Amino acid sequence: MGYRVAVVGATGNVGREMLAILAEREFPMDEVAAVASSRSVGTEIEIGDSGRMVKCKNLEHFDFSGWDIALFAVGSAATREYAPKAAAAGCVVIDNSSLYRMDPDVPLIVPEVNPDAIDGYVKKNIIANPNCSTAQLMVTLKPLHDAATIRRVVVSTYQSVSGAGKAGMDELFEQSRAIFVGDPVEPAKFTKQIAFNVIPHIDVFMDDGSTKEEWKMVVETKKILDPKVKLNATCVRVPVFVGHAEAVNIEFENELSAEDAQNILREAPGCMLVDKREDGGYVTPVECAGDSATYISRVREDPTVDNGLTLWCVSDNLRKGAALNAVQIAELLGRRHLKKG
Ligand SMILES: NC(=O)c1ccc[n+]([C@@H]2O[C@H](COP(=O)([O-])OP(=O)(O)OC[C@H]3O[C@@H](n4cnc5c(N)ncnc54)[C@H](OP(=O)(O)O)[C@@H]3O)[C@@H](O)[C@H]2O)c1
Repeated sequence: MGYRVAVVGATGNVGREMLAILAEREFPMDEVAAVASSRSVGTEIEIGDSGRMVKCKNLEHFDFSGWDIALFAVGSAATREYAPKAAAAGCVVIDNSSLYRMDPDVPLIVPEVNPDAIDGYVKKNIIANPNCSTAQLMVTLKPLHDAATIRRVVVSTYQSVSGAGKAGMDELFEQSRAIFVGDPVEPAKFTKQIAFNVIPHIDVFMDDGSTKEEWKMVVETKKILDPKVKLNATCVRVPVFVGHAEAVNIEFENELSAEDAQNILREAPGCMLVDKREDGGYVTPVECAGDSATYISRVREDPTVDNGLTLWCVSDNLRKGAALNAVQIAELLGRRHLKKG
């Protein structure tokens, strides 16, 4: 016996990936519903590469009673309206938007890092998925924190346009084409030209001059990993379609050599160490797209501080940064709470 699973936002970047990952990981499902806005009603969507098609339903009229799990990827506004309705109908919501992440009554989960926190889902019947940049960073930092206790992290991100949804990918494609044929470039989704450029601005500005994307990395790290860890982030949008990269500088309480860190990361769940210290001996975003792991390269000691390390990590933002993590949460929920069969 399997679950009845609704994928909400099924026509979007994350929704499509969630359907693919449910199929790929053979998540036990008796029934799957694809749900999106009224614009998509009747659109046929394939569940991964399974050949199985489902017709899209309208979220406005969707009745969540009798459904076990709803994987939401529709943005904060629609989530605010519909996630509480799904939760009240007895369906556990796993949400990709930022709406509930810092709600003290909603667990924020990276299964490799803080699986026990999932038990708190019963308060609201909602579980939050972290920001894409946070997820891959948590997978990387957790084993190092366990080994030597992280005091402070400085991270610069290189975030792909798919993190801004379908519209972000279309804008990079259209602008690249326009530049090649000499057409004018009009920014719409992004604040400046993204093709052949980088933009140090993701989400809205906060009062202190940081952006909300940077703030999310700070507060989500505290909630998932350890409230004592200090973090400073600069989040940058880059003209890459899929895959976020991060340059990470870490200060520890205790000494940890680069070699010991490499050995720890080689064994850590969700991590793949590719660190050859030669031409091409590291992983870049195009190579991680479509993959589940967080790849770690360029691990080295930072001689400018006590107990400092610097490293590079990349992961597919649509997978570990969103869809894969959400499905892993569903698996964890099934194992610990919603047992079937
Ligand atoms: N992309 C990432 O790397 C990433 C990572 C972590 C979290 N997230 C979060 O995941 C969510 C979805 O992101 P995305 O990248 O998949 O966006 P997207 O590609 O723009 O897709 C948005 C989806 O939401 C649906 N939708 C929008 N408004 C709706 C409404 N009022 N009612 C019902 N459905 C509605 C759309 O349906 P229609 O096609 O019918 O319009 C579409 O299926 C966002 O909250 C985002 O912040 C994204």
